[in-house]
Amino acid sequence: MLEYQTHEYDVLVIGAGGAGLRAAIEASANGARVGVVTKSLLGKAHTVMAEGGIAAALSNVDERDNWKVHFADTMRGGQYLNNWRMAELHAKEAPDRVRELEGWGALFDRTKDGRILQRNFGGHRYPRLAHVGDRTGLEMIRTLQDHGIHLGMEVHMECTVLVLLKDEGRIAGAFGYERERGRFLLFRAKAVVLATGGIGRAYKITSNSWEYTGDGHSLAYGAGASLIDMEFVQFHPTGMIWPPSVRGILVTEGVRGEGGVLKNKDGRRFMFDDIPENYRSQTADSEEEGWRYTQGDRNARRPPELLTRDHVARCIMREVREGRGSPHGGVFLDIAWIKTRVPTGAEYIKRKLPNMYHQFKQLAGVDITNEVMEVGPTTHYTMGGVRVDPDTQMSDLPGLFAAGECAGGLHGANRLGGNSLSDLLVFGKRGGEYAAKFASENGAVSINLDEIEAAARWALEPFERTGENPYEVQQDLQELMQDLAGIVRREGEMRDALEALNKLVCRAKRVGVPGNREYNGGWHTALDLRHLLTVAEIVTRTAIERKESRGAHFREDYPSKNDQEGGSNIVVQRSKSGEMEIRREPLMALPSELNQVIDEMK
Ligand code: FUM
Repeated sequence: MLEYQTHEYDVLVIGAGGAGLRAAIEASANGARVGVVTKSLLGKAHTVMAEGGIAAALSNVDERDNWKVHFADTMRGGQYLNNWRMAELHAKEAPDRVRELEGWGALFDRTKDGRILQRNFGGHRYPRLAHVGDRTGLEMIRTLQDHGIHLGMEVHMECTVLVLLKDEGRIAGAFGYERERGRFLLFRAKAVVLATGGIGRAYKITSNSWEYTGDGHSLAYGAGASLIDMEFVQFHPTGMIWPPSVRGILVTEGVRGEGGVLKNKDGRRFMFDDIPENYRSQTADSEEEGWRYTQGDRNARRPPELLTRDHVARCIMREVREGRGSPHGGVFLDIAWIKTRVPTGAEYIKRKLPNMYHQFKQLAGVDITNEVMEVGPTTHYTMGGVRVDPDTQMSDLPGLFAAGECAGGLHGANRLGGNSLSDLLVFGKRGGEYAAKFASENGAVSINLDEIEAAARWALEPFERTGENPYEVQQDLQELMQDLAGIVRREGEMRDALEALNKLVCRAKRVGVPGNREYNGGWHTALDLRHLLTVAEIVTRTAIERKESRGAHFREDYPSKNDQEGGSNIVVQRSKSGEMEIRREPLMALPSELNQVIDEMK
């Protein structure tokens, strides 16, 4: 006899990072009964890894900034694959969302005249990132948590969803288990918002922590919703690389925003060696000019370290490949040099980048006010996600919404730093609002008991086996994706990856775990494998399909952009018979007034 606890909500939010909390706040404010499920503890989310700031055209530091410039920057950064409507809403609504957050208690750094301070970041034309030192994501989560908790939402911590439930073509809830005791939980809900973040744990080197196994992507796919742009995985150029135990931990782009420079082993600022044509007119042609830019000289152009992430990551890889890297296979990031220009340099660095200072001191024994950091690319973010309606965030499964990193469309082929936090706020709010509306307009759902019994049976199977070790399968998967479907991709290698993934699927079916259901990490890992394997296959298949290089997707066998390939998004959906179907959808035509905005900004 299957035992489980049942909870009933109008809106169930799965994930409690920035997007999940913002959605929950909005759904509650719209009168919905809201439940929030989080795989981890409340407050622990990848949102905190967006350290450097929230992008919003507040124009506090440079009055030339406005939503049009932000829109054009986002589209260009995304190599025009973005859903233009999402990019438009995002650029227009981000400033209000930031001010709202401030009203709820977020303590931003200030300009001299007391307004929210904004800093430079890659690909943003003007200083645009509202920030709290280098702990912006943390402050955002703290504020949303404080605000949300008073609205009466129920939070289920350390609870993992196994499957989404449907009722005749609409969402009906979710079924999962609580990690502490291993008990099953049924959530009946009229609307569900997926806000589970990314897929970073499909790769070996990542800034993502253990929770980010692509759950939302895989749950939506399993329920028949479509996913978009899954070939675009962002490798943040600067993660820690030494010592090995901390490899992948993020080194915020804020370091470069404050004047940090990248050097190879010969001390050369290699970023000057390769400046893409479409950014040439905006990029400094001397170190001096780059420095003047970071100091706010409006006639100067940005240093090449602030080019988009895809480009910077590839330049770093080139230096390493050609033998000019640092001892542990990265390059050097130097912020200490600014002491030659700023008399109070060490104090300035500690004030602007307190987290980085402590991170390097404690984890690597490096004093960044005196020494260079060793850094290299780390898997950070996925641009791809659940395909949603840009205004409502509803997927093509009625009642299923997605927001934040697990939704696709806004960022196109490459996300600009800082656009993630504004994405979470703008589309978390929209997702919550429209989920509450959907719930109020649609009646109760009924649950198919066979579905939950099958899910529970499947979940308990590893206890009956003594086969493969789940950790080993997970590790082999991460290595495989890192080596064969990473920053530089080749068709042959990706086909090898698919074959190897097939074998891993068979091994995953044989994993066995000892012990019982109470706080059993091996069991949790065994269950996460299904999500990881699903997203790994989707990324690999879509990456094979896109025969060009664009944004974060670099094909050594197709090194250039191709207009025909760039004219469509790649969409993935599970067919009724369980096959992975891949199709191309032409980009939505850009309205002439937005086309004009892009032209003006060029
Ligand atoms: O570098 C960073 O602080 C990361 C920001 C982001 O991913 O948006």
